[in-house]
Amino acid sequence: MELKQMVGIEAAKYVKDGMVVGLGTGSTAKFMVDEIGRRIKEEGLSIVGVTTSKNTEKQALALGIPLKSIDEVEVVDLTIDGADEISRDFQGIKGGGAALLFEKIVATYSKECIWIVDESKMVEKLGAFALPVEVMPYGSQQLYRLFEKKGFAPSFRKNENGDTLTTDGGHYIIDLHLEVIEDPRALGTYLDQLVGVVEHGLFLDMVNKVIVGHEEGPETLN
Ligand code: 5RP
Repeated sequence: MELKQMVGIEAAKYVKDGMVVGLGTGSTAKFMVDEIGRRIKEEGLSIVGVTTSKNTEKQALALGIPLKSIDEVEVVDLTIDGADEISRDFQGIKGGGAALLFEKIVATYSKECIWIVDESKMVEKLGAFALPVEVMPYGSQQLYRLFEKKGFAPSFRKNENGDTLTTDGGHYIIDLHLEVIEDPRALGTYLDQLVGVVEHGLFLDMVNKVIVGHEEGPETLN
């Protein structure tokens, strides 16, 4: 079994009847959503899902998972999502699938978050994966130039047609090719205060549990 599928199935075991469940985005989260769909169909599991992207919403609807928006629920009991990089102290980069804004909003209103990754995503220091920064289209070239001057090696995220990608929230993504992020907290604080930055892919102190896929089986880190 593929490692991403293994951790997707493992994480779905934490979903219990009556829960409001945040459904992440990406190729790993897709397996978890499939498994929840299977449990609803075959085991009569009863949950409400809160999706983090149009892609996940489409998948969940096709599987018959009842959905509510983040604004329709008081709180999310558990969110399960993928990640692009996770350091040993559970800090992460997300947004490889361009869903970081909705993912961060859903995670923020979740009592518990689980990330599911194959072992290649566990790193000593964040930054080899380009850090996505979601920005307002208006003024985005100014931010791009600022990032260039800072030595952040920015690039606008493109879609499959080679055009600038537009996120589900109607924004652009500038990826920062930093190679290594020595101080994720300082960088996050810097990006937070830039006008025109909607959100960034540094997810700091947001996860309670990480399930890592290895050939020998899933490993759960708390
Ligand atoms: C989407 C994300 C994804 O969770 C992240 O990119 C991991 O994706 P995958 O499971 O496909 O490797 O943050 O915005």
